[in-house]
Parts: sequence; structure tokens; C-alpha cells
Amino acid sequence: MRSFIALPAALSCILALCNAANISISNKTEYKIYNTGDSKCFAVDNMFQGNTNQVIVFDSFPVMFYGNADCSNLVSMNYKGGWTDVNRPIRSFQVIRPDKQ
Ligand SMILES: *[C@@H]1O[C@H](CO)[C@@H](O)[C@H](O)[C@H]1NC(C)=O
Ligand SMILES: *[C@@H]1O[C@H](CO)[C@@H](O)[C@H](O)[C@H]1NC(C)=O
Repeated sequence: MRSFIALPAALSCILALCNAANISISNKTEYKIYNTGDSKCFAVDNMFQGNTNQVIVFDSFPVMFYGNADCSNLVSMNYKGGWTDVNRPIRSFQVIRPDKQ
């Protein structure tokens, strides 16, 4: 079972950054793309402080989106979906990935 999970991860490691996540956040007027390979808490642009945001995630472990700047107030979770409405302000996000050696 493990090798079925490890193979796509290894491929994206060769093709791009290791398990980098492509995360786009839109306020329905403009959007920004965030690429990250780690699980730090990232603060996002303050154009997403309104209540009409959308998020989309590619190539990734689940991504948690937060309404505050330090990744403690969860407002949405996304994993390889289409555009998903988030009718809350988004101020930070974090890629939830298994621990790596
Ligand atoms: C992820 O982002 C990189 C750099 O912006 C881009 O080249 C790549 O096509 C993106 N992948 C997807 C699936 O959107
Ligand atoms: C989205 O962000 C742009 C750039 O900051 C801003 O001009 C626009 O008013 C924002 N739209 C909404 C609905 O917040």
C-alpha cells in the first residue's frame, strides 16, 4: 500500500519542488498563486480579508486556510478540488503534510 502513495510524491519531486503545493486564492476580482514545499504557516495578501474568497489547490497534501494570521482559526480545508467558496476572510494557510526525515 505504501508504494502506491509514495510514487506520485516521488514523481512530483522530480518534476518540480518536492511535494510543492500550488495554492490559488481569489477574492473573485483578483487572485494570487502561492507555491510552497513546506508546512510553515504562510500569511497571505490582505486582499483576502473580505467574505467572498475562493481557493483551489493542486499537487498537494491537504491545505488548511485560516481566518487569522497565525494559523489557529480554521475556516476551510481543501485538497485537489475545484474552486471552493470560502465566505470568510483568509489571512493565512498551512500545508498539512506528513513528517519527512
Ligand atoms: C504550479 O506552479 C508552478 C509555478 O508557478 C507552475 O509552473 C505549475 O504549472 C503549477 N502547477 C499546477 C498544477 O498548476
Ligand atoms: C480583490 O482584491 C483587489 C486587489 O487588492 C481589490 O481591488 C478588490 O477590491 C478586491 N475585491 C474584493 C471583492 O474584495
